[in-house]
Order: sequence, then C-alpha cells, then structure tokens
Amino acid sequence: MLETESVLARTGGRPLRRIVYTAEEIAGRVREMGEEIAAGIPEHEDLLVLGLLKGSFIFVSDLVREIARPLQVDFLVAASYGAGTVSSGDVRLLYDPSADLEGRHVIIAEDIVDSGTTLNRLIPLLEKRRPRSLEVCALLHKHIAADLVREPRWVGFDAPQEFLIGYGLDHSEDFRNLPFIGSL
Ligand code: IMP
Ligand code: MG
Repeated sequence: MLETESVLARTGGRPLRRIVYTAEEIAGRVREMGEEIAAGIPEHEDLLVLGLLKGSFIFVSDLVREIARPLQVDFLVAASYGAGTVSSGDVRLLYDPSADLEGRHVIIAEDIVDSGTTLNRLIPLLEKRRPRSLEVCALLHKHIAADLVREPRWVGFDAPQEFLIGYGLDHSEDFRNLPFIGSL
C-alpha cells in the first residue's frame, strides 16, 4: 500500500496499491505515440483525433500537442460504466461529434481498452460515416478483450489487469486529476 503524504493528499486519504506509471513515464510514452501517429498518417490528408470522454481528456490534450502536423480534435461521449468497477456491457452515445468523418483519417483516442465493449459498439457506428481510415489509439490496453473488432494501432502501455485510476481515469468520477496512473 502506498500511503505517502503526497499521494494521500491527492486521493483524500485513500491509499493506493501502487503507482503503475509515473507522470514522467506517461509523458515520455505519449511523446513517442505522437511521433508514431504523425509518421503514420499521410502528410497532406485530413486528420481528426476523436477523444472518448471523459476518460481520455488528459491523454488527448497531451497527445495532440505531440502530433506535429495539422489536425482537428473532437470528442464523443459513450457511457459504458455506472458507479461500480464492472462493465455493464451497455454503451450509450451521450454526445455525438459534430465533425464530419467522411473522407478523413479518424483516430479514436481511448484511455483504456478493457472488455473492448465500447470500441466494439462504436467502430461499426463510426464506419457508417465513411471515414478514409478509422484507427484506435489507446493509452492503456489490458489485453483481456476476447474479440476486438479492431486492435488499436497505437498502444501506450500494456496495462496490468488491475483497476487503474488517474491521468483521466476515474473510479466513480474521483481521481481523474492524479498526474500519475495508480492501482486502487
Ligand atoms: P471497455 O468497454 O470495457 O473496454 O471499457 C472502456 C472504458 O471503461 C474506458 O474508456 C474507461 O473509461 C473504463 N475503464 C475500463 N477499465 C478501467 C480501469 O481500470 N480504470 C478506470 N476506468 C476503466
Ligand atoms: Mg470511466
């Protein structure tokens, strides 16, 4: 258990099991991912980064600043989890991007791929809008999804099968503001 004062001050007294990725490790990997993405999309073709809210809000804001080429950013909100830590298997679109996907390279930026349900429901829905390409960039991948309709093209870290919080990831809406990723 991690019970240092600086951690407890941020978690409101709740100890963490451990810090899984430090802020520095995340920044280094996000920088590499930005470079990989910039190199992977043809230079003069339209790129739209579509962040999956809420969990990806910090990841997207860091990632897009590491992609040194023109792009646009939009978000979509798909609610798949309730207050608990278990997937309900039900994905609802609460906010649908206003951006047109047709003919553009679209990268869905996801904080973490767990069961894969969110992506499996979203990808067919977004494919109908005829993007030029549709790829997934996931900061974390637990590699437990049995049948992903599309493997993420870019993955930040192969994550342990623990419940992770911080850097945008929440537990019942708490802990999103931790600068590191920890295990509850
Ligand atoms: P999936 O649909 O099961 O792949 O889950 C995707 C979403 O569930 C992610 O975008 C997260 O918001 C949430 N989620 C999955 N695993 C975790 C976790 O370990 N910590 C926090 N949120 C998680
Ligand atoms: Mg969540």
